[in-house]
Amino acid sequence: HRHLLGIKGLSPQDIVQLLDLAESEIAVSRQSEKKKATLRGRTQINLFFEASTRTQSSFELAGKRLGADVMNMSVGNSSVKKGETLIDTAMTLNAMRPDILIIRHGSAGAAALLAQKVGCSVVNAGDGAHEHPTQALLDALTIRRAKGKVERLTVAICGDVLHSRVARSNIILLNALGARVRVVAPSTLLPAGISHMGAEVFHKMEDGLKDADVVMMLRLQRERMAGSFVPSVREYFRYHGLDREKLKYAKPDAIVMHPGPMNRGVEIASDVADGVQSVIQEQVEMGVAVRMAVMEALLDPRRNAEGVAG
Ligand code: CP
Repeated sequence: HRHLLGIKGLSPQDIVQLLDLAESEIAVSRQSEKKKATLRGRTQINLFFEASTRTQSSFELAGKRLGADVMNMSVGNSSVKKGETLIDTAMTLNAMRPDILIIRHGSAGAAALLAQKVGCSVVNAGDGAHEHPTQALLDALTIRRAKGKVERLTVAICGDVLHSRVARSNIILLNALGARVRVVAPSTLLPAGISHMGAEVFHKMEDGLKDADVVMMLRLQRERMAGSFVPSVREYFRYHGLDREKLKYAKPDAIVMHPGPMNRGVEIASDVADGVQSVIQEQVEMGVAVRMAVMEALLDPRRNAEGVAG
């Protein structure tokens, strides 16, 4: 079975093929009959151990628009953490013979572990601070549609990089497609070894945003900071929040992105989030198209010659 566990392991050709396929899926969601039959009769299970608004609902809609039967497993995020319980849950669902399992889990490597155990395709919908591949794909599609390309664009990824699987997947993907990637964050919110990941490091927004084509803000993940450094919101917004003044350092036609959920007034000012440069709603729309493309690429036998793994 074929899986999408991360952007790491995908070739630039794989990525471009998925983006091209996603481009063709956009029309399905924009017509009144929002339905294809590619995955008719297939069963998709969404297994989300962590909270989600965008990812879970867009995977559900994507499956339904492809004609699949979609089941959302409701798992509380408190009692089940990792290890055997995850595997037990997955093996129970596996016995019901799904064709594809979409998993979000708080532990890095959870999706890869599952992929070794179950007899169906697995898609990583976010595993700890590791990867969130469909988010990076939908971000790339949004950038490509706004700017006509990804190659040689300057993309500034700003904020809580340390806890961000979105940042990790984006850094890998954007490098694969030839973008110039920057991270902008206080050193306390950067992972060790960030400079070896293919990102130029900046600590001040004014420096990191200079002449950027894309400004990608990250959520300050305070729930993952227990026992470590938790910045004060007011101070964080003042130095690292994106407001109109800081945005002026980027190119005049720069786009503003945020994967959501947003903390307005923490990492991004409301008027910038809702402003003319924001493509945050487009990101959400592209999320459905990208997830349709990924599931079609994994499950449609006519596409099985195409490369998607990772
Ligand atoms: N961007 C993202 O993954 O959002 P959710 O946590 O709401 O799915």
